[in-house]
Amino acid sequence: MSDQTDLSFAAKNAPAEGVVVVLAEEGPKLTPSAQDLDKKAKGLLARAAGITGFKGKKDSSVDLLAPQGLKFARLVLAGTGKTSTYSAEDWLNLGGSLRGLLTGKESPSAHIFVETADGKIAPADVARFALGTVLRGYKFQKYKTKKPKKDGAGDANDRTLKKIVIHCPDPKAAARAFAADQAIAAGVTLARDLVNEPANVLGPAEFAARAKALTKLGVQVEVLGEQALKKLGMNALLAVGQGSDRPSHVVVMQWKGAGAKGGDPIAIVGKGVTFDSGGISLKPAAGMEDMKGDMAGAACVVGLMQALAQRKAKVNAVGIIGLVENMPSGRAQRPGDVVKAMSGQTIEVLNTDAEGRMVLADCLWYAQTRFKPKVLINLATLTGAVMVALGKEHAGIFSNNEELAARLMTAGLATGEKLWRLPLGPKYDKMIDSKVADMKNTGGKWGGSISAAQFLQRFIKDGTAWAHLDIAGTAMSSVDSEINRSWGSGFGVRLLDGLIGEHYEKR
Ligand code: BES
Ligand code: MN
Ligand code: ZN
Repeated sequence: MSDQTDLSFAAKNAPAEGVVVVLAEEGPKLTPSAQDLDKKAKGLLARAAGITGFKGKKDSSVDLLAPQGLKFARLVLAGTGKTSTYSAEDWLNLGGSLRGLLTGKESPSAHIFVETADGKIAPADVARFALGTVLRGYKFQKYKTKKPKKDGAGDANDRTLKKIVIHCPDPKAAARAFAADQAIAAGVTLARDLVNEPANVLGPAEFAARAKALTKLGVQVEVLGEQALKKLGMNALLAVGQGSDRPSHVVVMQWKGAGAKGGDPIAIVGKGVTFDSGGISLKPAAGMEDMKGDMAGAACVVGLMQALAQRKAKVNAVGIIGLVENMPSGRAQRPGDVVKAMSGQTIEVLNTDAEGRMVLADCLWYAQTRFKPKVLINLATLTGAVMVALGKEHAGIFSNNEELAARLMTAGLATGEKLWRLPLGPKYDKMIDSKVADMKNTGGKWGGSISAAQFLQRFIKDGTAWAHLDIAGTAMSSVDSEINRSWGSGFGVRLLDGLIGEHYEKR
């Protein structure tokens, strides 16, 4: 669920109560607001800093409860290190880590004074900081039936913080800059909510209904049911879903923010396997529960489309998601089956657990034939092997286009949603040649992420600039970070929003 904390911007000299956070740079060099309070409290901050050996280093802080001479419940002096070298991501992470210090325990309201040691800060950096606080505040609590304990026992963040006020030099400009970041925060929140949702609640139809809700923001949403998919010839996608009692769906979302003159759209395709049991090639029991998150690619696409619409991005974008449940049953596809994909190519199904590529094959083909996109990007929790290669720090990127790959990698560095490029090539492609069909859906023991990408590339037309992001390690079962404590990270929303803002939006 989204952070329930209300966020606003105020002038530096506006009144503050409750919990107050002021900053110091390395030294420690107290910011003007920190110096002010120090004076009012007769040197209390400087003394406390001295006693604890606080030097203003990043991730260090001094904490004072009921500070003498001040009416605050709690006063925090937080170190920033050297802000002269800060990137946008550093401000984002600072917002996240300071939000992490606020439990709501001492007071329901917090006031953070954001500025550098010379009393300045750009409104865009304040907005990034604010985004960090919102992302860090996210908690999926939908299924918690017990109210948090008064003393905050158990989880420090269980007490809900009601209000954060960010004090800065130009609050009006900061609020204006934050409008876009707020749309991004809402998009990431939606993506996280979808990934965290259990599969009994969120099957293909329920997921489609959530995507349909984007209509109210001006996104055109079409939901294709099994009859329509059969007519289109999406037999690879349908084969994956045929073992489930819950029918498959494809959702097409169009945001036409650049109008007719904007030209061909950028298309984003997402894998939406709402639960991946493996099918007849059943997965082992241990960890199978994680496969409720096998729709993280689709969740990212929906979150991104919402962010673009909410911030009225001047871009023509199409989002396409393939929603299926991969289950074993008397109707399920078998290893050895041969199916004909929408492109006309045949696939020998050697392993029903290599299902994501079959779903994407039809969605990618559909995206190209219907929309002729200038750029085509897909996201998928496609292989466990990408985690063997890259761990959870980078998502894998495969691309047939140098410019697109470079732009994505740069957007990754700018947003902190980092990508690492892996190779494609004819020798790898040979790994998926089949004796009985045009290709098989597994490539053998080695380079599992690469043979999966090669499979997808067989459904990419010559001349389409395409990139595949394997997000199995970054979108779910996430490691804690400054801006995320949720199982589903919402990976990809900020990355692709950044890419679009930088390269595909009319100014
Ligand atoms: N959804 C999985 C990949 C996955 C694994 C995502 C772990 C997140 C965490 C995918 O459908 C899958 O099962 N891939 C197989 C492919 C194999 C059968 C060729 C894999 O990675 O083992
Ligand atoms: Mn699978
Ligand atoms: Zn899967």
